[in-house]
Amino acid sequence: MAVLNIENVSKTFGETRVLEDINISMAEGEFLILVGPSGCGKSTLLNMIAGLESVSDGRITLDGRSVNDASPRERNIAMVFQFYALYPNMNVRRNIEFGLKMRGVPKAERAQTVERVARMLQIENLLDRKPAQLSGGQRQRVAIGRALARDPALFLFDEPLSNLDAKLRVEMRTELKQLHQRLGTAMVYVTHDQIEAMTLGDRIAVMHAGRVQQLGTPREIYDDPANRYVAGFIGSPAMNFIECGLTGSGGDTAVRLTGSDTETHLALPQATAAKLAEHGKTRVLMGVRPEHLVPAAEADTRRARVTCAIDVVEPTGPDTYLHTELNDAAVTARCLPSAAPNTGAHIPLAIDAERAVFFDCDTEQRIA
Ligand SMILES: Nc1ncnc2c1ncn2[C@@H]1O[C@H](COP(=O)(O)OP(=O)(O)OP(=O)(O)O)[C@@H](O)[C@H]1O
Ligand SMILES: [Mg+2]
Repeated sequence: MAVLNIENVSKTFGETRVLEDINISMAEGEFLILVGPSGCGKSTLLNMIAGLESVSDGRITLDGRSVNDASPRERNIAMVFQFYALYPNMNVRRNIEFGLKMRGVPKAERAQTVERVARMLQIENLLDRKPAQLSGGQRQRVAIGRALARDPALFLFDEPLSNLDAKLRVEMRTELKQLHQRLGTAMVYVTHDQIEAMTLGDRIAVMHAGRVQQLGTPREIYDDPANRYVAGFIGSPAMNFIECGLTGSGGDTAVRLTGSDTETHLALPQATAAKLAEHGKTRVLMGVRPEHLVPAAEADTRRARVTCAIDVVEPTGPDTYLHTELNDAAVTARCLPSAAPNTGAHIPLAIDAERAVFFDCDTEQRIA
């Protein structure tokens, strides 16, 4: 049975519709990510699951029971917020056990729970400190500890790592993943960070403008984006979008690509050509990830190549990115650091047509 079912859920604040027809079913033990830009409705959806916001339309069920009218206390859920929301005048121990105390859990049992949680989060030595005496990362751990103490059926996290510095964020991300693996409890995790989404999620719901644009595994979302929005949002550096004219037909279908010096026809795989033919338009938007646009010297020699002037060379350590233009669109190619060209060089680039995806120029929906 699904732990959480969100069926045709919408949310209106006054006249404004902020969530539209959300449908998500979550399996037991799943780590589900809600990712999207600021204002897309992530927190609103999470708050509705928690019972902190009412549901305008549709139904939310937890363990098969409709909770539309249930108060937060009646839901077997624990939530971790972005700004910890610790009680400043209580020490760590009392912060962690507070919820249990409110529910009348006996003292000995509370002490055991605090021990267990503190051990799990490695904060045993901090139990007597007040929140003000903790670092940001330690506070966040305590906030997570408070949620863990409840042993709920579902955890909700609203951007729990967003106010930690970059290094700590990466460490805590790994810890959260380990924690999830250990607990096996379902988690819904809100973030606007696509790397966090990719690394943590069993499945990701990419949200934009109040709608779920796509719901899938990280691989599905990355390799098979449903539309241009998802394709551009997930992946760093972002996918390249190149408007192209189609030439030929059947087995000879190709897209025309113009670099700085040369033009080439990039032959398309048969399955792609068939879908594009069925769609019927002669101009399409091609999406190519930087790792599939590489110096020809690094690619299969049979691949079509097009010479481009490299405007900017950007070493990142493991990869070097090259900025250039194709069909007048700014694009990013990836190359091995050892083979990086100089700025201003003209080099042949090759595209992996098998990995290119195609969108309708107007609707921006995926075609092939
Ligand atoms: N109580 C409210 N009354 C009116 N509008 C609201 C209310 N709460 C949120 N909104 C609006 O609903 C939309 C979604 O807000 P929400 O907080 O869910 O976004 P979010 O995706 O969590 O953004 P962020 O990444 O910035 O936290 C926004 O346009 C916001 O202004
Ligand atoms: Mg939010």
